[in-house]
Parts: sequence; C-alpha cells; structure tokens
Amino acid sequence: MVEGFLWCSLVEVTTPTPAMTSAFDDLSESAIFENRDALADEYIPSEIVGRDEKKEEYMNALLPVYKGESPDNIFLYGQNGVGKTAVTHWVLNQLEASENLQTELAVLPINCEGVNTSYQLTIELANQLIPNSENYLPSTGHPESKVYSVFFNQLDKIGGTALIVLDEIDHVANIDTFLYKATRAASYGDLTETKLGLIGISTDTAFGENLSSDVRSSLRERVIEFPPYDASQLEQVLRQRVDTAFYEDVVTNAAITYAAALGSKNSGDARMVLDLIRIAGDYARERGKDHVTDDLVEEAMDEYEIERSMSVLADLPENIKIVAYALAVLEEREDEEVTSSILYDLYSDFAQMVGHDPVSERRARDYYGRLDELNIIESQVKHDSSGGQYKSHSLNHPTSEVLTALADTIDTIGVHKNVQHLVEE
Ligand SMILES: Nc1ncnc2c1ncn2[C@@H]1O[C@H](COP(=O)(O)OP(=O)(O)OP(=O)(O)O)[C@@H](O)[C@H]1O
Ligand SMILES: [Mg+2]
Repeated sequence: MVEGFLWCSLVEVTTPTPAMTSAFDDLSESAIFENRDALADEYIPSEIVGRDEKKEEYMNALLPVYKGESPDNIFLYGQNGVGKTAVTHWVLNQLEASENLQTELAVLPINCEGVNTSYQLTIELANQLIPNSENYLPSTGHPESKVYSVFFNQLDKIGGTALIVLDEIDHVANIDTFLYKATRAASYGDLTETKLGLIGISTDTAFGENLSSDVRSSLRERVIEFPPYDASQLEQVLRQRVDTAFYEDVVTNAAITYAAALGSKNSGDARMVLDLIRIAGDYARERGKDHVTDDLVEEAMDEYEIERSMSVLADLPENIKIVAYALAVLEEREDEEVTSSILYDLYSDFAQMVGHDPVSERRARDYYGRLDELNIIESQVKHDSSGGQYKSHSLNHPTSEVLTALADTIDTIGVHKNVQHLVEE
C-alpha cells in the first residue's frame, strides 16, 4: 500500500525544472546507442538484407495482384525469427508503392495471436472495414451467418483487390471455417466486386496438411518456405541494424561475427542475434565501456539462454512444473543429493496438495528426461557403494529465476519455507 501511494505521488510530480540534475545523469557517460529502439522487435527495417531469393519468390507470387488479376493465396512457413513478417511488410509496401499497380489495393493485416476462432477473426476483419466505430460488430451475440455476411458486404464495397494477411494463422483453432468461406466467396456470389487474396504466415510447417481436404482443394495456395538464416545472412542483418542502432565503430567486428555464428548454430533466428547485440550493448553502457566486444556477446548469450529456458519452463504442462518446483525446493537444502526417489516423493506431495493425481514414478522419470533435454535441469548418473546406479538431479539455472518462471505453480501450491527467501512478494 505504501509503495503504491509513493508511486502515485511520483506520477503526479514529474515536471523537471530545466536546471535540475538527476541521479540518472551520473549513471553512464559512455556513448553506445545512437538509437536503441532500432533493436526492438517492432522496429521495421527499411531494407531487407540477405533474403533476395525469398523476396523474388514472394514478388512472383504477388505478380497477379500487380497486374490486376485475381490473386493467388500465399502461405509462408518458417521458424521464429527467419524474416516472415519483415519480408511480408517489405514486399507489400513495394506493391502498394508502385505507380504501375493495375488495381486498387487494400491490405488488411491481422496478427492472429489471441484470435482463437474463425468467428472472432471475421469480426476483427469486418471491424477493420466498417467506417464508423459505432457500427462495429460486438465480440459476441450475432449468429455466425450474420457476421460473415457483414464482413463480405463490407469487403465487396471496397472493390479492386484485397489482401488479408493472417500472421500467426495457426493460433486460430478452427481456421478451416474462415478459409473455406473466404476461398469460396467469389463462386458463391458473396464477393462480386472485390478480388480477395489470403496470405497465411505460420511457424508450423504441418499447418497446411492439417486443413480439411475441402479447404485444401479450394485454397490452392502457393507455399513459400523461409529456411533458417546462415551465419553470413545473420551477419548482414546485424551489420545493417548495428549501423542504425549504435554509434560508429562501437560494435567490434569480432562481436558481430561471433553473434552471427551463435545465431546460426542455434536456430538461424535473426531476432535472437538482434537481442544478443542489444543485451551486449546494455552491458557496455551499464559498465561505462566504449565498445561492444565478443566477450560481452558471450555473456549476453548466457543471459539469453536463461531467459529462453525460463520461458519454455513457464509454458510446460503443470505436472512438469510441479517437478521443477519440487527440485528447486530440494536444492535449497544443501546437505543431500536430489535422487529420483527423493524428487518423486516431494513432487507427489505437491501434486496431491493441489488436487492432482501424481503420475507414476516411471512417468515422472520421463519428465526429468524432458527437463534435462530442455537444459532446465541436469541429471547425472551416479554409482552407489554397492555398484548400483542412481540419478542425481540439479537445476541448471539460478533457483530464483526458476521460481519466477514457476510463479503460477507456486501461487497454487504455496511458498515452501526452503525458498521463501528467494520468492518475491
Ligand atoms: N532479412 C532481414 N533483413 C533485415 N532485418 C530482418 C531480416 N529478417 C529478419 N529481420 C529482423 O529480425 C527480426 C525477426 O524477424 P521477423 O519478425 O520477420 O521473423 P518471423 O519469421 O516473422 O518470426 P516469428 O515467427 O517469430 O514471428 C525482426 O526484427 C526483423 O526486422
Ligand atoms: Mg512474425
């Protein structure tokens, strides 16, 4: 309460007098970032580098739109951070900017994260088209047929060509329904004036295979696969962004090539290398250094791996998180090794406390294996004095980080006294 009160009063009194000096002024003198925001995920690069082949493939797929013909549907597949969204942005900008474009073009982009059903998707798209917000469709209440008819009506009013870009399309659980209606709208007479094309973007390469055969036959999509970036492509992406984000010559060559090499060894993810260089830049700034070196990139990689492991952990099934919580609690007693059976006993207790039936000991061993594979814990085979074997488990990351990732699980089970000192209130 007291903290809340102080915060409120701070918010109200924030007009600094021009001559006022602040404690922040003393924090760092070093000139590292020229524009740190250029390393943020939402930053849109003006040029795409190292993806000439994909750009060309994409532009060819959009050639019918450029020529005013009926669009093909296009689907993009590729892992995280391989440029699907960035390249789409660039290609569509080029298309819209062309003076020779043979059609009136409307692009309707939508990120489907959080859009769970085709019904919601159609409402969101209809509302992008409805000119007056007073007439927006509410998120519930209308029958599905009404929602589709409003949407097609609005879409048909714009004429020309409409491209609907469905980024992260796999988030929509019953996407078949939308795709079926959208691809057949022209032949069913729902669209007579507007030519509709769909662009679907997904990290799930099996996405197309899971669609119903009806949808697949009407979709007739062109597929563009985005492979992971190699080290030299990542280096190009990095150099371009470093030029904008940092002052000249701040980031060393070795730092760039090292970050690119780490990225290509991992998953060829451009977002990851941009994150690495940003974290390394933060270290340099916080420590008052003049350069971002490969040593700092290495340190950044350690932090990045912790963050990545922790976000994977936070998304694991509840039973596995209970195992991880039990291990965190056991690790805080310094005396004994955590064997599989000790871990299983505490896991079972925790599971019962929250009304879960504990899984069998054999199944729990699969969980330990999964956590080990994900680099969240380390399980070592040891030998006892009688020649038998057993496994000993430990966390691979600081306990406090693990506890933060397990916050929801801890909320339901409660804070164990062993870890009380590590759990933030
Ligand atoms: N070829 C490139 N040139 C310049 N910047 C790039 C390039 N490819 C990716 N980037 C940058 O890398 C980051 C990740 O790329 P992007 O968001 O396009 O990945 P994605 O394939 O859409 O990933 P996700 O599936 O996670 O959404 C963005 O900041 C983007 O601007
Ligand atoms: Mg994307």
